[in-house]
Amino acid sequence: MIKIAVMGYGTIGSGVVEVLETNRDSIAKRVGEEVEVKYVLDLRDFPGDPIEKKIVHDYKEIAADEEVKIVVETMGGVEPAFTFVKTMLEAGKSVTTSNKALVAEKGAELIAIAKEKKANFMFEASVGGGIPIIRSINACLTADKIEEITGILNGTTNYMLTKMSNEGSEFDDVLKDAQAKGYAEKDPTADVEGYDACRKIAILTSLVAGQQVDFEKIHTEGITKVSAVDFKYAKKMGKSIKLLATSKKTGDSYSAMVAPHLLAPEHPLYNVNDVFNAVFVHGNVLGDAMFYGSGAGKLPTASAVVADVVDMAKHLGKNIPVEWSTEELALEDYKNTEKQFFVRTSVDEAAVKEVFGDVTFVKADGVAGETGFVTGTMSEADYEEKAAKLGNVLQMIRLA
Ligand code: HSE
Repeated sequence: MIKIAVMGYGTIGSGVVEVLETNRDSIAKRVGEEVEVKYVLDLRDFPGDPIEKKIVHDYKEIAADEEVKIVVETMGGVEPAFTFVKTMLEAGKSVTTSNKALVAEKGAELIAIAKEKKANFMFEASVGGGIPIIRSINACLTADKIEEITGILNGTTNYMLTKMSNEGSEFDDVLKDAQAKGYAEKDPTADVEGYDACRKIAILTSLVAGQQVDFEKIHTEGITKVSAVDFKYAKKMGKSIKLLATSKKTGDSYSAMVAPHLLAPEHPLYNVNDVFNAVFVHGNVLGDAMFYGSGAGKLPTASAVVADVVDMAKHLGKNIPVEWSTEELALEDYKNTEKQFFVRTSVDEAAVKEVFGDVTFVKADGVAGETGFVTGTMSEADYEEKAAKLGNVLQMIRLA
């Protein structure tokens, strides 16, 4: 019997307990013995809940119990999660977390402690919810140099953009709907400003580069400025608008960015709708691969956490190497990357031609008093210079 502890009995933590109970027999077969939750750490008590008697309020009680070999962290946030996880690893226990804030900021450090202690620190659920993207990068795509990872990594914003596209509604209205359905939080900032997707692409980039990526250095734009008018233009061009988190190899480094993009129907992520997530990977020998599925929610996320528990239970006393050093990766300046830009401006076509030269004008149905156009391929720096010269830019969305 393998004894584990769950730190944080919120949505994901209770999902982990539920998954372990629902699939008790098949999980036991895969591990080779039963997995039992010995402790649940939470500030609250849960009278009447089946885990009532397992509740503890002091993480040190778990750290001191040598019978506990595996700990699940589903509290969220960097502190006190970092202190708790570090203590568990230092006590020789393996830890799995769903906490992207913790992994993005402290991943390399926690991986190093796990290695020293012949334990494991796993974080499958921190990116893409139930989609097995971390294990795929660490254990499957090991023959490749990964040249690109582009993902729809946030379910809330993908739901909102899909609804705006289908119904022609405005951002504020779909946000209210997403909050009512429980997809968006009361304070939706982390999702709608792209911070959540930013931490996830930082984690993926750190893994493929083998070095720490500072998420604060990733250029990040959210979806708050995307409007119903933008979708009218998108429809005219036959494209969809998606919040992409992307990382591309440029020489010895990577160029990473989070921003809304216009996608043509041929793009592999064009049809990823609603709360679903997907990750497109291009490897130098593999070519293209796509991972698609439930990127958020209680049970999909818990499924990934429990898969880590199973993996760690099968490797007790043995560290599975993960290449992610604390040395910071100097990201390529995103302003050097080249692409096309869709622009809306209040100036006329002649003024646009004078600054941007040869462009493709787009006329959206029912939109008047402005000019929409797609530029030729140019660097972000070039675009910024020209946009400043043009002035009166109402919107800019990059083409994927
Ligand atoms: N808020 C996140 C999302 C949850 O909407 O994708 C999963 O990390």
